[in-house]
Amino acid sequence: MKKIIVAYDKNYGIGAHNDLLWQRDLPADLQHFKQLTIGHPVIMGRNTYLSIGRPLPGRRNIVICYQDEVIDGVEVVTSLEAAYALAGSDQDVFVIGGGQIYSLAFDTVDQIIATEVNAQFDQATIFFPAVEAEVWREIDRQHHQADDRNLYDYDFVTYQRL
Ligand SMILES: NC(=O)c1ccc[n+]([C@@H]2O[C@H](COP(=O)([O-])OP(=O)(O)OC[C@H]3O[C@@H](n4cnc5c(N)ncnc54)[C@H](OP(=O)(O)O)[C@@H]3O)[C@@H](O)[C@H]2O)c1
Repeated sequence: MKKIIVAYDKNYGIGAHNDLLWQRDLPADLQHFKQLTIGHPVIMGRNTYLSIGRPLPGRRNIVICYQDEVIDGVEVVTSLEAAYALAGSDQDVFVIGGGQIYSLAFDTVDQIIATEVNAQFDQATIFFPAVEAEVWREIDRQHHQADDRNLYDYDFVTYQRL
């Protein structure tokens, strides 16, 4: 199944300055991301790859950019279709961002695995498309409160395309 995994704030903000809005202040989200994606192909845009700074271990890393080039430890493709073809259709494949690649993939995925961060970051410059109730049905939600290490309340939510 094709899935998007994303974390957004109350305004669907996902990034600024090629980093996450909450930077390192939501480690539970990184753990959740790792738990779900480990062992599966992950598809990302070049900016997101640069932001992470290295291939994600234990996953097939597929990076989309306009020009075919060699990047150590990842497979580079020049279209979303090529990324899906590389990933194969026999297992879950995760589109992991960022803004441009989410927009490209939004109409192609069956599920959105969202972390909804209960905060508003005015510095956001990169946004996720709105998850409209006419198109997406919420099938799971787990609420978590802020704690010593996670500075914001957040929900792990799964949306299924209707
Ligand atoms: N909150 C979250 O869940 C989350 C997840 C991931 C990323 N982010 C954030 O999102 C931001 C990065 O997002 P972004 O929108 O700037 O970049 P992006 O989507 O990661 O990557 C954009 C790049 O992908 C390539 N690309 C885009 N469309 C393409 C197409 N149709 N065909 C071929 N290549 C294409 C281009 O690479 P070239 O120009 O190199 O050719 C483009 O510059 C960062 O702030 C990051 O922290 C947030």
